[in-house]
Amino acid sequence: MAFGLIKDDMDIDLFLTPVPLAKADLQGKTVVVIDVLRFCTTACAALAAGARAVIPTDGPGEAGEMRMKLGADMAVVAGERNGVKLESFDFGNSPAEFTKATVGGKHVVMTTTNGTGIFTRAGMAGPVLAGAIVNASKVAERVAREGKDAVIVCSGIEGGFSIEDTICGGLLIHQLATTHSVATTLNDAGSLALLLFRSNKTALKQTIEQGEHGRFLTSIGFGGDVETASAIDSMPVLPVLKDGRLVLEES
Ligand code: MLT
Repeated sequence: MAFGLIKDDMDIDLFLTPVPLAKADLQGKTVVVIDVLRFCTTACAALAAGARAVIPTDGPGEAGEMRMKLGADMAVVAGERNGVKLESFDFGNSPAEFTKATVGGKHVVMTTTNGTGIFTRAGMAGPVLAGAIVNASKVAERVAREGKDAVIVCSGIEGGFSIEDTICGGLLIHQLATTHSVATTLNDAGSLALLLFRSNKTALKQTIEQGEHGRFLTSIGFGGDVETASAIDSMPVLPVLKDGRLVLEES
């Protein structure tokens, strides 16, 4: 920004992977953590089904302890490693498992390979939103309303780039610029995400299915989850991190 000029655009820094993330990057900004396949999609499903909260944790041990603390009648424990439900856990990481009957009124304590750990490290920022394709418009609306500079963190896949999270970041930036007429200044990864979304928007599901994680999930029997996660605005809820828990924010 040039000296003396009043800044009226929104700086959006998108991180293709969570690796360069430091707490200093997040201070005073709206933070969106994206994990399309599948944690954020599953968190949306659980909260839409009436769960009280989704609690991200760093690992199975911590998840088990948290569940004990909350009480087995008040909490379930869910998550995956290599895409598959952890032994002795109640549920895996498949959005279809989270229904009113299974999680209504309960805390859902979760650990996943990539997604949950990012939320446990984002506590100093505010607000921190869980972003996915299924709740994209809710997230974009909240980022626009907040009006602050924003950081979009793609969970990626085991430290690397993932096409579905980047496309989702591009979708959010696209909605901010079009639906909400927000003037944005993007870092190069943000520009890349926007290009990726705009050049794939008519074949979103196919692009995500053909991605590394989409192919992997399909190969182990979770192709339905990939389809669910690719449907824009099919779960119009807004999970917001409050005291280490993702809760629903009514708008
Ligand atoms: C993750 O956080 O690594 C993912 O949600 C993995 C998955 O279950 O697809």
